[in-house]
Formats: sequence, C-alpha cells, structure tokens
Amino acid sequence: MLAKLSINELSLSAGKSGVSGQDIIMQKIRMVDLHGQYLHVKGEIDQAIQRVIDNTAFINGEDVRLFADELATYLNVPHVIPCANGTDALQIALMALDLNPGDEVIVPAFTYTATAEVILLLGYTPVYVDVYPDTFNIDPEKIKEAITPRTRVIMPVHLFGQCADMESILKIAGEHNLYVIEDNAQSIGADYTFSDGRKVKSGCMGHFGTTSFFPSKNLGCFGDGGAIITNDEKLAVKAKMISNHGQEKQYHHKLIGVNSRLDTLQAAILRVKLQHLDEYIAARQNLAAYYDEHLSADGRFSIPARSKNSTHVFHQYTLQLKEGSRDELIQQMKNQEIPVMIYYPMPVNEQEAYFTDRIIPVSHHLCETVFSLPMHTEMSQEQREYIVGNLLASSQKPGSLT
Ligand SMILES: Cc1ncc(COP(=O)(O)O)c(C=O)c1O
Repeated sequence: MLAKLSINELSLSAGKSGVSGQDIIMQKIRMVDLHGQYLHVKGEIDQAIQRVIDNTAFINGEDVRLFADELATYLNVPHVIPCANGTDALQIALMALDLNPGDEVIVPAFTYTATAEVILLLGYTPVYVDVYPDTFNIDPEKIKEAITPRTRVIMPVHLFGQCADMESILKIAGEHNLYVIEDNAQSIGADYTFSDGRKVKSGCMGHFGTTSFFPSKNLGCFGDGGAIITNDEKLAVKAKMISNHGQEKQYHHKLIGVNSRLDTLQAAILRVKLQHLDEYIAARQNLAAYYDEHLSADGRFSIPARSKNSTHVFHQYTLQLKEGSRDELIQQMKNQEIPVMIYYPMPVNEQEAYFTDRIIPVSHHLCETVFSLPMHTEMSQEQREYIVGNLLASSQKPGSLT
C-alpha cells in the first residue's frame, strides 16, 4: 500500500527532517518489510520453490539436509538439527537433557513467553531472574542468587540481536554443573568474543542453542521453522531422535519424542536467504546507526546499549523512554502512519498464565518504558528521515502533534 505524503506534511510533522522538494510518494512504513525483501531475491527464491515442487520431496527432502549443513558451516558448529519452529527447538533441547519433574530452569523475566512456556509444559520449574537495565539481557549476578540444589539449566535469551554475557554464564554453569541452552531466536549471526579473543557465533556456546525462522526473524522463512544447534555429538543424536518421534531408525522408537520437522520448501527458501544473512545484518546495523546518530542527543530516549563482547544484529531497535507518556508518543507516531511496537508489555512472570507474586524490578520497569522502531533490511532514506523527524518532533513538543 502506498501512502502519499506531501512534503508540507512531512516538514510540519517532522520538524527538521531535512526533506525538501515537491510531493513525494512514500511506501507505507512497516515494522518489517517482508515483501520488499522477497523482491530482492525473487528469482532465486522462486527457482528454489519450483525445484521442490518439481521433485515433490516435501518432507525431509534434500534441501533440509543441505540447509542444515550450510547453517552448520555458517555457524562453525558440527550439528544443526532443523525442526518446526523455535518453540519446538527449545522444547526438544530441554527434553534431551533428561531432567526430573520440578527441576529448575533459570530464565530471564524479560523475554518472549515461549522460553518459559516449554519449561512448564515439560513439568519443570522456571525461575525468573532479572536483566541488565541497559542491554536487556539476563544478569549473571542474579543468576547466581537464583541457584538452588534443584537448578539444572540456565537458559539465557540473546534478546533483540545481541548475546547475553556468555562468559560469565558459562563460568557459573561450570561451577555449578548446570546445562546451558541459549535461546537464539532473535540473534542469529551475532558474534561473541571471549576475553581470550575467541570469537563464536551466538547460539553455539552452550550445550544447546536454539533458533527460530519465523518470517520476521533475521533469517526468516515463509512460514514456521526452527533449529537446534550443538557441538555435542551425543546430545545431537538425542535431539534428532526426539524431533523425529524418538525414532532411532524407521519404526524403531527408542524415546518418546515429538513430530517437529522443517518443511523442504522452507529449507529451500532458507538456503537462499542464508547466503544473504550477512547483508541483511549489515543493512540492519546501518539503519540502527542512523537511528543512533539522530536520536542519541534527545534527552527523552536511551538508545540501545551495545554489549561489550557481542556484535548487535538488530532484530529489534529498542529504545527506552525516560520521560513523558509512552502511550501518547506511540499514538502520535501512529497518527503519522509510523508503526511502533512494545516488546514486551509485561514480564513473563506477570503474565496471567505464568504469574508469580513477585515484581522483578528491572524487567518490570523495561516493560513500562521500552518501544521498538521499524527495523528491517529494506528501509528507504526518506522513510528513515520521516521516522526520525517525527520522533524528534513529538519528543520536543509532547502533545503537539495531531
Ligand atoms: C526469544 C524467543 N524465543 C522463542 C521464540 C519462539 O519461536 P517460534 O515462534 O518460531 O516458535 C521466539 C519467537 O518469537 C522468540 O522471540
């Protein structure tokens, strides 16, 4: 859909947006522009889809194996096990660890609920801990405080595009003999650098990493998809078995498993998009740098902090509002046809289904103050200027935009 915006409207609403000239036609701004991204690789994607249709190996076709191998090469790990979605990936990873009912799994309170959902589904106990107020990732000091004799797993989430403090987390896990599952649904492609200089891709440091290929993710398919990542041969064999009805070989079921497969069509699409992942990341980082440059001087916002050991692949560009009304700001942006999202409006432990009678302060505060701007690989210069111009104008004169 096209939104026609006259330059007068732009200048009025965007203040010093720097745009001038006659009327322009601007593409509607979206949080994520999947169609624009598709058009850039249309030829390759259409060919890949047609290839799968022609050979009709819709389940467990050659592209699934090839995609797993290619992703393993990209991540520099020996084992990638594709599955149906990122939630299944978390569930399968947990199932492979043979925990006992009531065993405790430490998770951040500030995350998407899927991380905690699978823990409860399997009869384990999520223990919610707080996050850093700047990077939004799980705080290792709070992990230490939460460890009990029942703790078996730490599940950090690499939120919004950058890795949690894995060096500290792995150290704590080693000292207490705990498993680590990295929920890497949002940060595929980020690099983590250890203090000895070793560089490792996100999702490849713990016993398991998991990821999601939900369409809006940095590496997204055209439906649902996910993967489990591990360096451990034994865990890989087990996770693979669990993902396929617990079969050791066809019709020989050694374990109770699940049916969680990546469709061949999705694998074929992902093979194409994986080749462009680093370009996608660069485009996101470029947009983030633009937002930073233009928003950092505005005292009402905190721009996203960068972790010192991780690159940021900007699944989301998430600011904190330090003063004023977030609802009003979002409404003003909406009035200008600029989508703004809140990830997340409530910590997991305050959700009705997950409720604990405890306020986890930093997570609670973040849920009241964060907002995310459109972030994708196809943003035009005029769209960037329009977003930033409107945000600055609204912040300078709260309540002045209609
Ligand atoms: C942090 C996190 N974990 C897990 C998931 C679940 O992934 P999926 O939607 O593929 O099941 C998501 C998806 O939004 C996520 O953001």
